[in-house]
Amino acid sequence: MVILKSLQEIEKIRKAGLVVADVLREIRQLVRPGISTLALDEFAEQFIRAAGAKPAFKGYRGYPRTVCTSVNEQVIHGIPSKDIVLKAGDLLSIDVGALVDGFYGDAAVTVPVGAVRPEAERLTRVTEEALALGIAEAKPGNRLFDISSAIQRHVEKNGFSVVREFVGHGIGRSLHEDPQVPNFGERGRGPRIQSGMVLAIEPMVNAGGSRTVVQEDQWTAVTADGSLSAHFEHTIAVLDDGPKVLTIR
Ligand code: MF3
Ligand code: CO
Repeated sequence: MVILKSLQEIEKIRKAGLVVADVLREIRQLVRPGISTLALDEFAEQFIRAAGAKPAFKGYRGYPRTVCTSVNEQVIHGIPSKDIVLKAGDLLSIDVGALVDGFYGDAAVTVPVGAVRPEAERLTRVTEEALALGIAEAKPGNRLFDISSAIQRHVEKNGFSVVREFVGHGIGRSLHEDPQVPNFGERGRGPRIQSGMVLAIEPMVNAGGSRTVVQEDQWTAVTADGSLSAHFEHTIAVLDDGPKVLTIR
């Protein structure tokens, strides 16, 4: 069941979204060769708590940390660890969620560690562009899969593939609500997009094939072929006059 939000509720999700935006802005300044992903996680947890918010992921279905840090062929849900030390040339995705006043915000970025290969830069750029193109379709009257197809088209036009095993989602009083927001689909299909919908749109894009495998830790999803992967996510509200991004300050 899709839960439509009032403007007051959207304001609350925005508060959580701003905490997420601030964490991501600060954390990316810390990304450099030699830092562990656990150090990034500890920073994020302290930052979120200092802002009067709570980490959204910690404890969610047993997830042990505040952020997800996914390096290179890791697609999403990488678990921060003191043993994972970033090195120049790595491609790092950071996913953060925060809970403020009963409402969740959720966003992710992919950042280069030092200088990365041109292919990694292009993958990152195309994924971020795909997110923006998807968001632009999130307006009343459109169909949900207009978002999906805009993302898929841009990704495939550039020779990359979209992950199908994981999708975006509605968000509000729960981290994951209906509807599911796939990153592939046919224009003109899916439920009608309505004012008051709040969605976490999150393309996961692989340089090679689309298939993923979840590792032994039951969380970390990696590309089946070992190719590089990127992930961007914003929480957006559908307003009468179009989409409003809630996870940018
Ligand atoms: N942005 C991701 C999602 O929407 C992060 C979830 S991590 C989890 O699924 F630990 F909370 F599952
Ligand atoms: Co999400």
